[in-house]
Amino acid sequence: MTAQITSLFENIWQNYLEVTPSAEKVHQLLGSGTDVINDHVAYRTFNIASVNLDKLAQHLLNLGYKECGEYHFEAKCLYAKHFEHQDTTLPKVFISELLVEKFSPQVQSIVTKLVEQMDEGAAEQENFLYSGKHWSISFEDYKTLLAESEYAAWLSAWGFRANHFTVSINHLENYTCINAVNDAVKDGGFALNTVGGEVKGDETVKLEQSSTMADLSPVEFSDGIKEIPSCFYEFALRYPLANGELYSGFVAASADKIFESTNAA
Ligand code: NI
Repeated sequence: MTAQITSLFENIWQNYLEVTPSAEKVHQLLGSGTDVINDHVAYRTFNIASVNLDKLAQHLLNLGYKECGEYHFEAKCLYAKHFEHQDTTLPKVFISELLVEKFSPQVQSIVTKLVEQMDEGAAEQENFLYSGKHWSISFEDYKTLLAESEYAAWLSAWGFRANHFTVSINHLENYTCINAVNDAVKDGGFALNTVGGEVKGDETVKLEQSSTMADLSPVEFSDGIKEIPSCFYEFALRYPLANGELYSGFVAASADKIFESTNAA
């Protein structure tokens, strides 16, 4: 089973690098080779039955992952859950879904038409978590989505792929504090997400996170190719609970700001 999981994440990672070349460079910058362990991988989807959070999660449940927490993001109209494997060196997976019914009829109609273009059973295919977008969308419709939800627009352009990978600072050999990681990333020439400060969370919530701003990558829209924000890289430092185990959950207030790493600069 572990080999299957490792192979799944390798495919997801390669698919992510295709549109996030900076991640490969940051990965090399921080790691000495074998010490880059992923804290988590994050996904976005729509809450439409054929592609909702549960559909994505099924791929992980099949591999022995368990549901471990749920989160609400009222302002962004999102609902999320996270999944963990008993082997704590395997990445946690954070899956959110957009509550499509909370948006204007125009946005709902664009989203519905995207999902209708998908082949039946597409979400059950083995490669679904690294399959990208299954539809054609115009830049005009992308901009309409963007006006109401950056999340919806991102998903319409990039589809089903990792939104970000996250380096576990706890496992890095050369770094023990998030500020040192942030400095190294900035010195390497990469921009950090500064919404709410570079570091989201602190020891009191047992989790500190920071992230790069997403790369810009070309997307083929039905009316031409445009460069838009793709994916980003995140860094997480976890603190131990009273029982000595590292906190393994997520902090909604911090995640809320991390979502903005795909905003246009
Ligand atoms: Ni994250």
